[in-house]
Amino acid sequence: MKRITPLPTTATLATLSEADRQADPNWWRQAAVYQIYPRSFADSNGDGLGDIKGITAKVPYLQTLGIDAVWLSPFYPSALADGGYDVDDYRDVDPKLGTLADFDEMAKALHEAGIKLIADIVPNHSSNRHKWFLEALASPKGSPARERYIFRDGLGENGELPPSDWDSVFGGPAWERITEPDGTPGQWYMHIFAKEQPDLNWSNREVRDDFLKTLRFWSDRGVDGFRVDVAHALTKDLTEPLLSKLELTREGQLEDGFEDGSHPFWDRDDVHDIYAEWREVFNEYDPPRTAVAEAWVHATRRARYASPEGLGQAFNFDLLQANFDAGEFREIITRNLAEAKETGASSTWVFSNHDVVRHATRYGLPQGTGKHLAKQDGKAWLLAGAPAAELDVELGLRRARAATLLMLAVPGSAYLYQGEELGLQEVADIPDSERQDPAFFRNKGVEVGRDGCRVPLPWKVEGTSFGFGDGGAHLPQPDWFSKYAVEAQDGTDNSTLELYCKALKLRRELQSGEELEWLETGSPDILHFSRPGGWQSVTNFGDSAVDLPAGTVLLSSSPLQDGKLPANSTAWLR
Ligand code: NOJ
Repeated sequence: MKRITPLPTTATLATLSEADRQADPNWWRQAAVYQIYPRSFADSNGDGLGDIKGITAKVPYLQTLGIDAVWLSPFYPSALADGGYDVDDYRDVDPKLGTLADFDEMAKALHEAGIKLIADIVPNHSSNRHKWFLEALASPKGSPARERYIFRDGLGENGELPPSDWDSVFGGPAWERITEPDGTPGQWYMHIFAKEQPDLNWSNREVRDDFLKTLRFWSDRGVDGFRVDVAHALTKDLTEPLLSKLELTREGQLEDGFEDGSHPFWDRDDVHDIYAEWREVFNEYDPPRTAVAEAWVHATRRARYASPEGLGQAFNFDLLQANFDAGEFREIITRNLAEAKETGASSTWVFSNHDVVRHATRYGLPQGTGKHLAKQDGKAWLLAGAPAAELDVELGLRRARAATLLMLAVPGSAYLYQGEELGLQEVADIPDSERQDPAFFRNKGVEVGRDGCRVPLPWKVEGTSFGFGDGGAHLPQPDWFSKYAVEAQDGTDNSTLELYCKALKLRRELQSGEELEWLETGSPDILHFSRPGGWQSVTNFGDSAVDLPAGTVLLSSSPLQDGKLPANSTAWLR
C-alpha cells in the first residue's frame, strides 16, 4: 500500500511546476475544490438542463477562477427524484446530460487546464429504476435479487404495517410496501431517503464488488477522486426486534448515530471495512485516487472516515453550521486543525453546497436562523418556528465575503459551491408548482427544501435564462439574478467574482505547510492568524472599523476605510 505523506511544510505550491502539481499525491490536502451541480451550471443544447458539454465550454472560466479541482454532483442516468442522487446506472452518463464520450472530453479539458476531477458516488442507495431493483421487484421473497436491497415482512396480521416506525430523512416513513409479482400486497423495503432511493444491502458481497468495479471504471476514465454520499449509512444491523424511533432518539441522536457506533444504520463501526477495501483500489492508481466522506457524525467519530487507511478526508460542516462569530470560528478552526494533525488527514472547510441555504443569505438573516428555510405566512425566509426575519442582503454578502477570505487562508481544503463566487443569494420564492426537492413534497411543504440554492447560474446580464442556455431554466431564475451575472462582475473592481479570482490566485502562491498560529488581538471580535512564510489573515467580526496590524495589505474583502479594516471584513497581509 502506498503511504500518503504530507507536503513538506516548507514547500509552497507556487514552487511546484504544473506537471509536479498534477502528479503530486498530496494535491488534495490544500486544494480549492469547486462543486458543480451539473444540471444547473451551463446548458449547451437549450433544453433547460445543464449538461456535460456545458461544463466543458466553461473550463476557461474555471481556469481563470483559479480552482484546483472540480467536484461533480451526480451526472448518472436518473429520474431526478432527488436531484440525481437517485442513480439508475452507476457506470454511465445521464443521456439528458450527454454521453460517456462527452464525459471523457470534459475530463481531458479539465486536466489540460490543470484541474482535477472529483466524482460524486452514491453507495447507500440506488434509484428504484436501477436494474437490480427492478429485478428485485420481479423476483420472489428470499431471492438473491431481493438480497441486494433491504426487504422485510411487514408487521400486523397481514404484514400491513411497516417493519418499524422509522422516518425517512425527507419525512414520511422509511419503509415502502411493494406489490408482489402475483399482484398481492407484499414485503417492505427500506429507504433512508426518498422512496425512489432504496437502500442497498452492504452485507452482500455482490454489492461490494460492484462498487469496486464502479470505482475502477471512473478512475480508469481519469477521475481523480470521489465524494462519498452519506458515507456513514452503508452498513446496517437490522436484527429483530428493531428499536423504535423513541428508543433510538432516547439513546442518541437519531440522525447522527450513537457515539459507540451501535446505531442500527448510522455511523456503524463496520462501515470502515468497506472503505479499507476502497482504499486498496484507490492505491492501485498513481497518484492514488482520493476520497472525501459526507458523514454527518459526532465530531469525535469523524476522524475514522478521514483515516489514510480509509477515505482519507471527511467533510467538516462545523463552520457551515456556525454563526458569524469570532469565538465560534476560532474554536472550530482550532479543534479541527488539531484533529487533522492527529489523524494525518487535512481539514476540509465549507460554507455552501447544494443542500444548504447559500451563506450570503444565511449571514443576512438574524444569527441562529436561516439554516433551513421554511414557509411561514406565505414567505419562505423563515426557519421553522422562528420569529419573522428580514433579510439584509448587503450585510449577508459582506459577511460571506469576509468568511470566505478567512476560510481560504486556513490550512486544509476549501470546498466552494457554484455561484458563491458571484455572491449569489438563495432564491426563496420559487412557486410550489415548480419545486423539485423531495424534502418539500415529503414534508408537505413545511420545509421549502433545497431548490433555492440549485437555481441555474446567471452568466449574462440579459437574455434567455441569463446565458445559462438558449432555452429556459429548469428552476425559475428571478430578475435580480441579472446583477449577479458573471458578465456583470468579470473585470469589475471589487466584484465578488474578482475577489474570488484574486484570493484563489494569491492562495496558490502563498500556501505552504499546514500550520496556523493565532495572534492575539486584544478584542473578542477580531481573529488574526499567520501562516508559514509571513502570510496573515485578519477578520473583523465586530460592527466598527479597526486598525490593521503592521504589514502590506494583499487583499481585503471590502475596501479599507481610511486605512482601517471595516466591520464584517477580512484582509490578508504580509
Ligand atoms: C446527501 C446529498 O448531498 C443530498 O443532496 C442527497 O439528497 C442525500 N445525500 C441522499 O443521497
